[in-house]
Amino acid sequence: MARAAGLLAALAALLAAAVATGGDSRPGKIAVVGAGIGGSAVAHFLQQHFGPQVQIDVYEQQAVGGRLATISVNKQHYESGAASFHSLSLHMQNFVKQLGLRHRREVVGRSAIFGGEHLVLEETDWYLLNLFRLWWHYGISFLRLQMWVEEVMEKFMRIYKYQAHGYAFSGVEELLSSLGESAFVNMTQRSVAESLLQVGVTQRFIDDVVSAVLRASYGQSATMPAFAGAMSLAGAQGSLWSVEGGNKLVCSELLRLTKANVIRAMVTSVTLHNTEGKALYQVKYEGEVGKGSDFYDIVVIATPLASDNGSSSITFEDFDPPITVAQGSFQHTVISLVHGYLNSSYFGFPDPKLFPFASILTTDFPNFFSALDNICPVNISANFRRKQPQEAAVWRVQSPKHLSKTELKTLFRSYYSVQTAEWQAHPIYGSHTTLPRFELHDQLFYLNALEWAASSVEMMAVAAKNVALLAFNRWYQDLDKIDQKDLMHKVKTEL
Ligand SMILES: Cc1cc2nc3c(=O)[nH]c(=O)nc-3n(C[C@H](O)[C@H](O)[C@H](O)COP(=O)(O)OP(=O)(O)OC[C@H]3O[C@@H](n4cnc5c(N)ncnc54)[C@H](O)[C@@H]3O)c2cc1C
Ligand SMILES: *[C@@H]1O[C@H](CO)[C@@H](O)[C@H](O)[C@H]1NC(C)=O
Ligand SMILES: *[C@@H]1O[C@H](CO)[C@@H](O)[C@H](O)[C@H]1NC(C)=O
Ligand SMILES: *[C@@H]1O[C@H](CO)[C@@H](O)[C@H](O)[C@H]1NC(C)=O
Ligand SMILES: *[C@@H]1O[C@H](CO)[C@@H](O)[C@H](O)[C@H]1NC(C)=O
Repeated sequence: MARAAGLLAALAALLAAAVATGGDSRPGKIAVVGAGIGGSAVAHFLQQHFGPQVQIDVYEQQAVGGRLATISVNKQHYESGAASFHSLSLHMQNFVKQLGLRHRREVVGRSAIFGGEHLVLEETDWYLLNLFRLWWHYGISFLRLQMWVEEVMEKFMRIYKYQAHGYAFSGVEELLSSLGESAFVNMTQRSVAESLLQVGVTQRFIDDVVSAVLRASYGQSATMPAFAGAMSLAGAQGSLWSVEGGNKLVCSELLRLTKANVIRAMVTSVTLHNTEGKALYQVKYEGEVGKGSDFYDIVVIATPLASDNGSSSITFEDFDPPITVAQGSFQHTVISLVHGYLNSSYFGFPDPKLFPFASILTTDFPNFFSALDNICPVNISANFRRKQPQEAAVWRVQSPKHLSKTELKTLFRSYYSVQTAEWQAHPIYGSHTTLPRFELHDQLFYLNALEWAASSVEMMAVAAKNVALLAFNRWYQDLDKIDQKDLMHKVKTEL
């Protein structure tokens, strides 16, 4: 009985859609699940491709922005999720330009790597001296690392050209293969350490420097896969930027520009209905106003589907064969924003005035935190200056678990407040054996599949563009634009 009612409703929706689109071949309605950067960007790209007539509903159970979020401390806002982006994040750069947002002014600060008892590496104000020190301590390892990262980035950047020409990929493996042949796929299966040792980077450099960067960005060690590792090491080399007013503005402004219909509800299931050989998807949701459902021609899941908390427990009903998304786990990460006085003695500086660092990375020890940063608010005025080390400042501590009182008393002489954000931050790489697919069914897509190769804001924007192109090419049966081989050659001859 319930099923028959569902079918009737599906027919009614199909009719309504046909009427709404005036019988043209455009999709009637599109659903996006999740309003993080992936969901916001895909709504925007879908509208660009299909045109403004198409209605786009974006379901969000918590806050627009997802892992882009801010917390207010002492009347100012600070990033509590993703903090900064590489300068070559081309989609993000484009969004900021299109939306009339601005880059946040950079307030320079030096970093150091703490090894539990002493600092293993200290950055100075003088670029040449930094290079000299790296050279002195680690020989040619540093240059070899740089060359390795640059080679990966150079190949990865091909994606922008492919996307500009309208090419899309149905799976992560297809996407990676088109960029870096078998090498990129291999890099998702071998560790950072293994790959770096092979190109002649020393174990010592990996232990002291590479692991510290990986811990700070992914909370993981050099045993994590090389592809995600290279992406995070690229972030440590290039110049970084963030958005004035808060990174999450990109999401809310993209949704506003798209005039997407944001629905505050949790999606619980997607059910397949076939009407006249055409797939129609019923999205069921639960919100403050109770339960409901609606019908769509295209559905994009823009949140991780995983086996534990990171996961969205969305079920897929009446698909044959059933949809199974391979399961993996997510890394639990706590961000604590501490307003207080750093205990510089802990880092070997008994006189706080002499502590010159704004950012501390860590090697595998101590293990209760992975990074510590003296952070600036999301709005930086022209006369803003970073707090001096002896002044009370806002510190961002990244740790695998909540900091205990004792741990806080170790890092801070005293503090006024501690506020925390808990995240299922990144996939635990290696907990997923196969690379997932973007295409779950004809017009049902999984944007966050790409997170299993590497997770970053720009990667999710790349995935958003890919999924929008995939949906568009599938809708108009433009199969020459999906999973094409030898694209380097094709895009060269196309122009
Ligand atoms: C602490 C931290 C620091 C980071 N630092 C950086 C950095 O410096 N640079 C960088 O590039 N990346 C960084 N990252 C990674 C980056 O934040 C993520 O890769 C990116 O934001 C993921 O975006 P997303 O839209 O794919 O997912 P999310 O931002 O997780 O968005 C998914 C959204 O879907 C919603 N949702 C989930 N299930 C449902 C459902 N069933 N129904 C309705 N809504 C649902 C969620 O509430 C969420 O808002 C960091 C991440 C964390 C946690
Ligand atoms: C990728 O891995 C396979 C098997 O592990 C190997 O045969 C192949 O040579 C590797 N390719 C590259 C480019 O490293
Ligand atoms: C912060 O910056 C954003 C973006 O530029 C702006 O809209 C907002 O008004 C600013 N807020 C404050 C308190 O200055
Ligand atoms: C799920 O999250 C809770 C708190 O957020 C945590 O205590 C628990 O260990 C998590 N479970 C898994 C499987 O990660
Ligand atoms: C600061 O660090 C020192 C050196 O590790 C430690 O002895 C002291 O207990 C810490 N805490 C405070 C509040 O000084």
